Amino acid sequence: MTPEQFLELARVLPEPLLLVDGEGHVLATNKPIADILSLRRQELQGRMLFDLVDESPHDVTKYLQACSSSRAMVIGTLTLCKNDGQKIICRSQGAVIQPWSPESSALILLRLENRATASNNFILLNKKIDELAKEIQRRKQAEAALVKANEDLEIRVEERTTAFKAAQKELQITQIQLIQAEKMSSLGQMVAGVAHEINNPVSFIAGNLYHANEYTEDLLELVQLYQQYFPDTPLEIQEQIEIIDLDFIIQDLTQLFHSMKVGTERIQEIVKSLRNFSRLDEAELKQVNIHEGIDSALVILEHRLQATHDSRIIQVIKEYGKLPKVTCYSSQLNQALMNILTNAIDALEDTSINGRWSKINSTTEDYPLIKISTEVIDEKWIVIKIADNGSGMSEQVRSKLFDPFFTTKPVGKGTGLGLFVSYQIIVEKHRGEISCSSTPGKGTEFIVKMPVNIVD
Ligand SMILES: Nc1ncnc2c1ncn2[C@@H]1O[C@H](COP(=O)(O)OP(=O)(O)OP(=O)(O)O)[C@@H](O)[C@H]1O
Ligand SMILES: [Mg+2]
Repeated sequence: MTPEQFLELARVLPEPLLLVDGEGHVLATNKPIADILSLRRQELQGRMLFDLVDESPHDVTKYLQACSSSRAMVIGTLTLCKNDGQKIICRSQGAVIQPWSPESSALILLRLENRATASNNFILLNKKIDELAKEIQRRKQAEAALVKANEDLEIRVEERTTAFKAAQKELQITQIQLIQAEKMSSLGQMVAGVAHEINNPVSFIAGNLYHANEYTEDLLELVQLYQQYFPDTPLEIQEQIEIIDLDFIIQDLTQLFHSMKVGTERIQEIVKSLRNFSRLDEAELKQVNIHEGIDSALVILEHRLQATHDSRIIQVIKEYGKLPKVTCYSSQLNQALMNILTNAIDALEDTSINGRWSKINSTTEDYPLIKISTEVIDEKWIVIKIADNGSGMSEQVRSKLFDPFFTTKPVGKGTGLGLFVSYQIIVEKHRGEISCSSTPGKGTEFIVKMPVNIVD
C-alpha cells in the first residue's frame, strides 16, 4: 500500500491511524488521529513519530523494529503528546504492510486506541496472553530438556550395549581359550604320560631284539650243524622238520627280525614325536626347529595320511628351507600347525568321498597331495606354507574361517575351533600372521608368517 492509497482508505476509517516507515517518519495519517492531537493532518505530514509521543526514541525504534520483523500484529503502548502538554495513553496495534527491502524501508501501519476508552478486558487479555506465552515458553523448554535427556539416555544405552557386547565377546574368547587350554593341557599330559610309559617297554624290546636275533641265528647254526653231522635223523625228528617247515623258518626268521626291528624303531619314532609334540616341560618360550614340530604332527597324523576313503594315500611333499631356530611356545605352535594339517586332510578326504580321485585316469598325476614349504623372508621373519589340492572353499566360508565355532563339517566331526585356536596361537600369542587363499574344487593354501624372535 502506498501512502497515497492509505490516505484514500484512511479517510473513511473511524479509528486513528498512522502510516510510518521503519525509521519513524510519518508518511500518512487520517483525521481521527489528527483530532486526538488537535492538529491538522497537513501538520503531521513529514514529522517523526518520536516528536509526537512521550516514549524515548530508543523504545519507539525497538517497537517499530518488532512490528517490521513480525508477521503478526504487535501490540504496544504509545503516549501521544498534545501541543498543550496533555498526554493521551494509547494502545497501539502495529502491523507491517510492506517488509523492509534493500530498496525501501518497511511500511508500518499503527492503529491507536485511547487507553482511557479501552476496556479493562483488553488489559486482562494482554496479561493472559503474556502469561500464556510464558507458559508456552516454559513448556517448550521442558520439552526440549526432555528430548535432550532422552537423547542422552539413548546414547548411554548404546554405549553400555556396545561395552556389554565387547565384554561378552571377550568372555566368549576367554572361555574358548580356557576350554582349549584345559583340553590341550590334559591331552598333553596324557600324551606325555603314555609316551613315557610306552618308551620303557619299547626300549626294552628294542634292546632285547638284537640279542634275540643273535641267539636265534646261533641256534639255527647249531641245527644246521646237527643236520650236517647227523643226516640220518630219526623219523620223528624228520616228520617234525616237515611239519614246522624248517627251511621256511630259517628263511623267514631273518625277515621277521628285520620287520620287528623296523616296527620297534617306528614305535620309538612315534613316541619321540609324541613327546616332542606335547613338550609339557617346555611351556616357556624356547628356540626350536620348526621342521621338527611339523614332522611330529605328520607322524601323529600318519594313520590318516595312509588311507583316504577310497584308499588313496595322501602324498606329503616337503620343501623345507634352511630355517633358523624360532623362539616360540613350541607345543602350542605344533598344535596350531596340526590343526591346519588336519583340515587339509579333511579337505582331501572330502574330495575323495566325492570320488574325485577315483574318477581320475591312472596316468594323470592328480592325486591327494599336501605340500609343506618353509622359507626365510628376512632375518626377522620366516614363512610356513601348507597347501592341499582338496575340496577348497567358497569366499563365504573363507571369510569366516577364523570365527569361533564356524564349521561346515557334520556334527560330531568338527567343532569349528581348530582355526580359531590356530589364529589365537599364531597371531595373538606369537604376533605372527596367518592368511588363506582357496579355490573351490582346486585346493587351499594357508600361509603362516612367524617372527624368528617373538621377544624382539
Ligand atoms: N584346507 C581346507 N580346505 C577346505 N576347507 C577348509 C580348510 N581348512 C578349513 N576349512 C573350512 O574351515 C572351517 C573351519 O575350520 P576349523 O578348523 O576352524 O573347524 P573344523 O575343522 O570344522 O572343526 P575342528 O577343527 O574344531 O574339529 C572348516 O569347517 C572348513 O569348512
Ligand atoms: Mg579343523
